[in-house]
Order: sequence, then C-alpha cells, then structure tokens
Amino acid sequence: MERKTITTQPIEGQKPGTSGLRKKTKVFMKPHYLENFVQAVWQAIDGVAGKTLVLGGDGRYFNDRAAQVILRMAAAGGARKVIVGQDALLSTPAASNLIRKRGADGGLIMSASHNPGGIHEDFGIKYNIANGGPAPAEITDKIYAATETLTSYDILETQDVDISTPGSFDLAGMEVEVVDPVADYLELMSQLFDFNALRGLFQSGFTMRFDAMHAITGPYATAVLENALGAAAGTVVNGTPSPDFGGGHPDPNPTWAKTLMDEMMGPDAPDFGAASDGDGDRNMIVGRGIYVTPSDSLAVLAANAHLAPGYSGGLKGVARSMPTSRALDRVAEARGLACYETPTGWKFFGNLLDAGRATLCGEESAGTGSDHVREKDGLWAVLLWLSVLAASGKSVADILAAHWAEFGRNYYSRHDYEAVESTAAERLMQALRDQLPDLPGQTVAGLTVALADEFAYDDPVDGSRAEGQGIRVMFDDGARVVFRLSGTGTVGATLRVYLERLENDPALQQLDAQEALAPVIAAAEALAGIGERTGRVGPDVMT
Ligand code: G1P
Ligand code: ZN
Repeated sequence: MERKTITTQPIEGQKPGTSGLRKKTKVFMKPHYLENFVQAVWQAIDGVAGKTLVLGGDGRYFNDRAAQVILRMAAAGGARKVIVGQDALLSTPAASNLIRKRGADGGLIMSASHNPGGIHEDFGIKYNIANGGPAPAEITDKIYAATETLTSYDILETQDVDISTPGSFDLAGMEVEVVDPVADYLELMSQLFDFNALRGLFQSGFTMRFDAMHAITGPYATAVLENALGAAAGTVVNGTPSPDFGGGHPDPNPTWAKTLMDEMMGPDAPDFGAASDGDGDRNMIVGRGIYVTPSDSLAVLAANAHLAPGYSGGLKGVARSMPTSRALDRVAEARGLACYETPTGWKFFGNLLDAGRATLCGEESAGTGSDHVREKDGLWAVLLWLSVLAASGKSVADILAAHWAEFGRNYYSRHDYEAVESTAAERLMQALRDQLPDLPGQTVAGLTVALADEFAYDDPVDGSRAEGQGIRVMFDDGARVVFRLSGTGTVGATLRVYLERLENDPALQQLDAQEALAPVIAAAEALAGIGERTGRVGPDVMT
C-alpha cells in the first residue's frame, strides 16, 4: 500500500449548493473530479489527520466507487478512523445521528437526495460537521475556495476494501469500522417514541402504506414499522434500495409518488400513507382521501408533538424556511412559542437547534425534523404522525379539519419550472428585483401588495448574514408569493414559485388548493411573466 500524491488542476464549478455538491454522475466520474472535491474538504477542515469521520450514502450509482476513493483519501490524509455504513449505505438522518452519537469530527454523505440516480442521472456529496448537520457557508466557502486553487491530492494505492460485513479493520494505519446502517437509528427512534403505543395502534387494525421509492429508507422503514412495530408485512413497498431507484424519481410528492397517491385516494385506501426520498430525509404524508402539504404537516406536528415521549416537555421554539407556509407561525403564536424564519436549506437550522432556540423545524419541500439529529428526517416525521394518530384516535382528515378550524388554513402550493434556460431564469429574477421598490401599494391581478423584498437572514446565534434568499411579495389579505431559483438542480435553472393564501372561515377551508390559490397564481404570472419569459405553458411539478 503506497501513499501517493497525484498532481491535479482546479476544476471549475465545484461550488457546493443548497445541499453539497451535486452534478451529473458522469461529471463526478471524470478523472480527479471526486478526488479534487474531497481534497478540498480536507483543506477546508484544516486537514483530516487524526480525525474521525462518518461515511455513507443513499446507494445510488457510483456510491460504492466513491466510498472506496474517500476511504483511500482519508487514510492517505492520516485520518484516525472512518465509521462507514455497511456497503457504504447510510440514510442522511442516520449519518447525522452517527456523527453525534460517536462524537465524530464530521462526515461525508454521498447523495443527491431526491434527484434521480444512475449513470445518466445525478450524484452528490456533502460534508457535515461535528454537530451532525450540513456544513455552514463559512466551511462550504472554504471548500469552494480550495477547489479553485488545489494542485494535488493524496490517495492510498490499494485494492478495494471489503465493507460488506460489520466489523473493524486497519487501512494503512486508519481504522475502518463498518456498522449496521439501521441499528443506531432504530435505537434513537425507540427513545423518542412510545413503541408500545405504536404497536398497539397496528394491533388495533390500523393500516398503512410506506413507499420507500426504491431508496435508502426501505431497510429503515422495514426494521422500524414492520419488524419493531408489527405493521403488516407489505406495509413497506419498493423497500429494496436500487442504484437508479427503480428508474424512478425518488422525490416524495404527489407527482413522483403517484402510485401511492392513487392508492390513498382510492376506495380501499389504508388509514395512512407516507413516502420518503432518495436519502431518507424527506417525507410525504397522506391520509385516506387527503394529501397533507409539508407546511401543514409541520404545523400539525408542532401543535401535537407533546403527544410523543421525546417531546412531552414541550417545544423550545420552532423554525421554518422562508418559503414554507406560515401555518407554523399561527401555531407558534397561539402557543407562545418563538418562531424563526430562515433561508431555504437545512444548514440554517443548525445554529438554532444547537443553541436550544428551536426543537422542531421544517421546510415546504417535504422536510421536517427536530433536535434529535441535525438533518431533516423522513421516517421520524412518519413516527411522529403515527404517535399523534395513536394518541388522538382521529383520522388524518379529522386532524387537519380540527387544525384548520383552530388556526386557520394556509392554502399552499409550490409550482416548479424545471430545466429552464439559465439566462431566461436569471432575467426573470432580475426583472422582479427591479420592480421591488415600486410594488407596495400596487394592485396586481386584483391583489394589493403590502410588502415586497428580497429575503435576507441574520443568524441570531452567530450573527452571520445570508442575502439574496428569494423574492417575496406579500399582499394585504395575507396572501404571499415567493420566487426563487433552486440551488440543487443540475440542468439549467429551476424556478420555484411558492403560493400561499390564508383562509380563516371553516366553511371555505375544504377547497382544492389550486382553486383556492387561483388569484395568487394569477398575481404571480402578472408579476413575473413566467409564460413569456420561459416559454412554458405551466409548471412541471406542483406540490
Ligand atoms: C431544495 C429544497 C430545499 C431543501 C433542499 C435540500 O433546495 O427547496 O428546501 O433544503 O432541496 O433537500 P432548492 O433546490 O430549492 O435549492
Ligand atoms: Zn433528501
């Protein structure tokens, strides 16, 4: 085994986005591409020598190859130890848990989350810090800067190591510990939730479908729901992770989880349906005959979290990303809880969770989580919902109706225009930016603008500032539209339009969301000229 220093050159475009570096798999497979980025991570953390890292990924194409490279580079860099999931598998929340539980210095997660996988699809890698959460901008900026200047990387020359069975071995002076990817996560869940009560729920005949979308949550969901909680065999479907997610798009929303949606809206629907994404941090919640928007789910969980043992002492505060609906704010207001509004991306919650300012947080993009880890957690959200259903004895539809009656309903939808030509998308955003000063007081498609700005966030814990986080237009009737360009897409630009309207009248709370939002949709079009500027007749995805 020889430690080699390989000469390389900076590779353009290795700038981490909303959640690490994501590119087409073939880009990652190009000579030096992965190696350069990993070396840049080592540089950004002042070297990997003497450190302990966690390593795992969602099993997508290239996951196994990338893991071997990272292990060899960690060994070459003098790392003390790498804790790696068996077969290089770990869901994102399980990786976050392992980093925290083992007191590791950080971890590398190989995933492109909800993006499709395969040789022609996407791959990604991100660095998480010692609190288990995604690296903050201070570190990702350093990583990017290092990618622009590096001239060499260090790697061990050796055969592939066998990480297919739990146990420890030595790799050129570095310990490699292969762990069961599920065990520690299962233990954590059993501490937060009343497994006896949940077993009782399933024993009483409660039925559920969990669509793992051929992704990493399959083994976790099977272990927790079927094996530990006694849900019927077959509760978990598409439960075996595959490198291309069965050719599907592992994004748990009504468009990509259509089979589950159809089942839940059909005559023989189970009581409860859920799905998760490629790396297991997102969730979709569906009741019999009713879809729960992620924003509503977050608000319902905030209002009811005390029903689970892990949260019986109440919440310290709550947080949501700016585009997420303000349903959460209404719960926070009613319960006297602090409520924080952060930019898009889980990394912004880390400081609030660490400082004990927030217990629960979430994003409209199907991400919900708590201070149990520093990532969002799909299966955790499902278990919290199950806890609420078990304790209340109500159906999902009844819980939502009661919630809206008490707090009002924030009708909500996100419209995505994918793979838009980048210049057209930038121009659209710039045109909106240019209009901002003149908007207040103007009437747009019948709605009067109360406030319009480009969102910036001052972190109350470390004082850092994040600018350019989306354009928001607030109307005087409580409606809102937000425009943002995605930071995770890999082709052209993805324009996200977030639409929201508040309805306090219970008699008007059961409308179809798109219908209820029609005036806001019209205002968004009038403000941004989406059709004309992008050439699209409608969104590709509506959540
Ligand atoms: C998207 C979501 C965002 C989430 C991120 C990572 O980012 O909108 O809420 O944190 O994926 O899962 P975007 O593509 O919008 O930058
Ligand atoms: Zn994800």
